[in-house]
Amino acid sequence: MTTLGGQVAGATTTSGATDASGPVEQSTARRGGAETDRAAAAEFLEMFHAENRRAGPVARRMASVMREIDSTGTYWHTPEELAFGARVAWRNNARCIGRLYWNSLQVRDLRGVSDAAGVAEHCFDHLRAANSGGKIRPMISVFAPEGPSLPAPRIWNEQLIRYAGYGQRNGRVLGDPRYHTFTSKLIRRGWRSPERRGAFDVLPLVVETVEEGPQMFDLPSDAVHEVPLEHPEFSWFAELGMRWHAVPVISNNRLEIGGVSYPAAPFNGWYMGTEIGARNLGDSNRYDLVPTVAERMGLDTSNEATLWRDRALVEINRAVLHSFQVNGVTISDHHTESSRFLTHLGKEERAGRRCPADWSWIVPPMSGSQTPVFHRYYDTEDLVPNFFGDDDATRRALEGSPPAFG
Ligand code: ARG
Repeated sequence: MTTLGGQVAGATTTSGATDASGPVEQSTARRGGAETDRAAAAEFLEMFHAENRRAGPVARRMASVMREIDSTGTYWHTPEELAFGARVAWRNNARCIGRLYWNSLQVRDLRGVSDAAGVAEHCFDHLRAANSGGKIRPMISVFAPEGPSLPAPRIWNEQLIRYAGYGQRNGRVLGDPRYHTFTSKLIRRGWRSPERRGAFDVLPLVVETVEEGPQMFDLPSDAVHEVPLEHPEFSWFAELGMRWHAVPVISNNRLEIGGVSYPAAPFNGWYMGTEIGARNLGDSNRYDLVPTVAERMGLDTSNEATLWRDRALVEINRAVLHSFQVNGVTISDHHTESSRFLTHLGKEERAGRRCPADWSWIVPPMSGSQTPVFHRYYDTEDLVPNFFGDDDATRRALEGSPPAFG
């Protein structure tokens, strides 16, 4: 499968990034071994110096980077270049509606970390820091880059927090069906699921390095913040036992800056409610909650024209927004996020920049025409820096194989 656009594929939508196969899909997977592209490096350095006047003229840095590529096959970004590159990767990501705050992305420079346990520990710290007591901070952790002789670590999981999906005898899946195959593979690899399996069991993190192979790490409970879902009016809603995690941290996208690849660079924004309410809980191949809620609401489901699906979907989405709010966890609704996106477009235009956007990902998965982002077209060309969902990374996240360094 993989991406056709948020609405179409099992891929999800929006804001701060994406889940699913992640942002821009391209098969530019680069293995250790390739030399850094000089033209890509040069283009990035020009951009960095043009947008950061205080960095001075580009010439000296350019010459030194070219010499570094001559002798080592690649180059090392300055901390400033890295932070700028990561922020611009977000700014350029056509699938994200939440880009207004691109410049406030917090960048954790962890390029010295390349062992599996180290990567996992820092991912758990990322979750704690990004959650920050419910006031969610957009953040990225950048681990070791891909080198000409040393491949970078890989995180298999699509996000740091994902729920297991267990096949049952009745043919249905307990938990998130999106991760049914991934879950089975991890169990075969030796992951021990909780004794009493539930619909929201957090999967272990899988980190692979060339030396160690794939390693699994259970998430410490203090790194996993979740919101139990209740409805502002329907008291029965809480009995459905639904919950969702607070922070969506996409962890299988490759960050590319100036010809350098960072395959392990997990990043997060905060949730837009529809990602959870309309897609994760609403999609019939995910938690498929619409029929259950419609029934509890007593709607007439004998006829599509009663719009029982639409009515139930609205209430699920109200429950999501309400529950995050009463728990003090940052979330935004699709109307607010849409108008912020138009503000962002205006700012980018005034700055003389192009702002690529993919309509099928930007338009929210419910009430599209009620949001201003529906009523226009966008630039579609791809720009770098960016985040890439390489095909092999997508396969690993959904199927749990094959390993990157097999
Ligand atoms: N749609 C994905 C999910 O439901 C998350 C993608 C990133 N979203 C975000 N708001 N940063 O888990």
